[in-house]
Amino acid sequence: ASGTGDAAELLLRSPLWAADAPALPLPRAIYGTLHGEVRPNSAGIDLPYARARAGIAARARSIVITPPADVDPEAAQAIVRELDAAQPAWDALGVSARAQMLWRAADLLEERREYFIALIQREGHKTLGDAVAELREAADYCRYYALQAKHLLATQKLPGPTGEENRWSCRGRGVFVCISPWNFPLAIFTGQVVAALVTGNTVAAKPAEQTRAIAAAMVDLLREAGVPPSALRLVPGPGHSVGAALVAHPQVAGVVFTGSTSVAKGIQRALAAKDGPIVPLIAETGGINCMIVDSSALPEQVVDAVLRSAFQSAGQRCSALRVLCVQKELAERLLPMLQGAMDALSIGSALDFATDVPPVIDAGAQRALCQQMGELERTGARLLHRCAWPEALRKGAEPGGSVLHLDHRDDRGQIQHFVAPSLYAIDDLTAFREEIFGPVLQVCVWESGKLENLLEQIRSLGYGLTLGVQTRIDDRARTIAARCRVGNVYVNRSMIGAVVGVQPFGGEGLSGTGPKAGGPLYLSRMVAEQTIAIDL
Ligand code: NAD
Ligand code: ALA
Repeated sequence: ASGTGDAAELLLRSPLWAADAPALPLPRAIYGTLHGEVRPNSAGIDLPYARARAGIAARARSIVITPPADVDPEAAQAIVRELDAAQPAWDALGVSARAQMLWRAADLLEERREYFIALIQREGHKTLGDAVAELREAADYCRYYALQAKHLLATQKLPGPTGEENRWSCRGRGVFVCISPWNFPLAIFTGQVVAALVTGNTVAAKPAEQTRAIAAAMVDLLREAGVPPSALRLVPGPGHSVGAALVAHPQVAGVVFTGSTSVAKGIQRALAAKDGPIVPLIAETGGINCMIVDSSALPEQVVDAVLRSAFQSAGQRCSALRVLCVQKELAERLLPMLQGAMDALSIGSALDFATDVPPVIDAGAQRALCQQMGELERTGARLLHRCAWPEALRKGAEPGGSVLHLDHRDDRGQIQHFVAPSLYAIDDLTAFREEIFGPVLQVCVWESGKLENLLEQIRSLGYGLTLGVQTRIDDRARTIAARCRVGNVYVNRSMIGAVVGVQPFGGEGLSGTGPKAGGPLYLSRMVAEQTIAIDL
């Protein structure tokens, strides 16, 4: 009744699905629908596909980015008042009408995929593969939450004592403030906003400062899909002023936040401190994510999973691997393989097809990463390997670069900030407590018989987002998963790229409050419930 069936079941039961069934079930492979070709994401590059890529690349180079202007904190507060006044009408519109808007938005996203992919590549500095995956995730959120909401918001009659009728129903709570990060500028922004909208809330959407143009484009698309300005407003501006003003407003009925743990804690304190109702918070934050590799694991598979998990997206994913924990018996063989494989990574512009490791988001992120590596070295970490800069980046690099960081001006004159993928050896997990949000991997070797001690160290980090396990021993994978308090466990594969409705995503402890994004319980935090018992 509360929409707890799995995604496939929901899809099959949905009248939307039956009436107007698209050809592919979730998850939809957007690469596969480019130019009408049905292919999985991992398909090889043939001519039509290469043409599609070339078209997107040309678009990405020529696209003009016009971020919306910031609003000031007073204007942000006025927007909350307007959204509060409009919420009853939006709620009364009914879930079917709102779900149809989300469905339409997903269709529009797919129609405009080349534009959005190009925008994500340029403003978000994402590789083509990452940008495509984002677009797919955003469309998946629209369809998945549309279906979930129709189930959750349907009034239920519940059995009770003879002579009484019991009805249980859910409705929107009021104004939701949705605050998103730059590293998934389309997918996370869209997921938060459409979830809150479809459940009957009006929404003040505060995107990350670095990726406002993508957010503005998505709001325009939602308007075209039918969402009126009275229900959704974009509120760009600095987090510490505009974000904080939104959170502090007494008429806010809920907050959805994705970002760093420290900001999440600040928001939690601000909500607790203000007068008025108790306000629910969904916070999805970072992690110090580990991969446990035992001596039965296949080294080639481990290396592949480590490269993807630690260095794809320049390590700028909350799910990314931060600490590789290898059993001693395998370490001697695995670590040289890993270092060799790091040298094969291609570091370069996000617009270059061959790039594995793109630049980091901005100069501030680059500075913070260099400081954190300095701190690692001061606390005893030993540098094992660092990727060298490729010729193409060294040529024409801006002055002031080093082996650690380099700036390069692209062919449009935009400066890109790179951090060299780096591998450090540490003795154990006791020395650091901070997420390092970039292409920096630490490796720690554990002795046979000391697995329990390792698990205890991982638990004591306090984070609980993703965990990788590489083993050929089935039982061991299950035992480790049961012993670690983490939201997403990945066995014998990479630790990134959760699929909406299939791999609900989110953590616990310092990594967030839940419910998981793209999971069956997410919408439940956004509604108010009512039970009516009638004596007949
Ligand atoms: P951040 O915490 O600096 O900013 C996130 C958002 O919060 C931005 O929109 C920012 O403007 C806003 N903000 C900042 N201060 C605020 C305040 N005082 N009040 C209200 N809003 C405020 O994070 P970031 O650098 O944009 O993103 C990277 C972080 O996000 C990493 O820690 C990463 O692990 C985390 N993340 C988590 C998930 C997840 O699903 N768990 C997904 C993506 C990113
Ligand atoms: N949902 C994103 C991933 O799984 C963060 O990588």
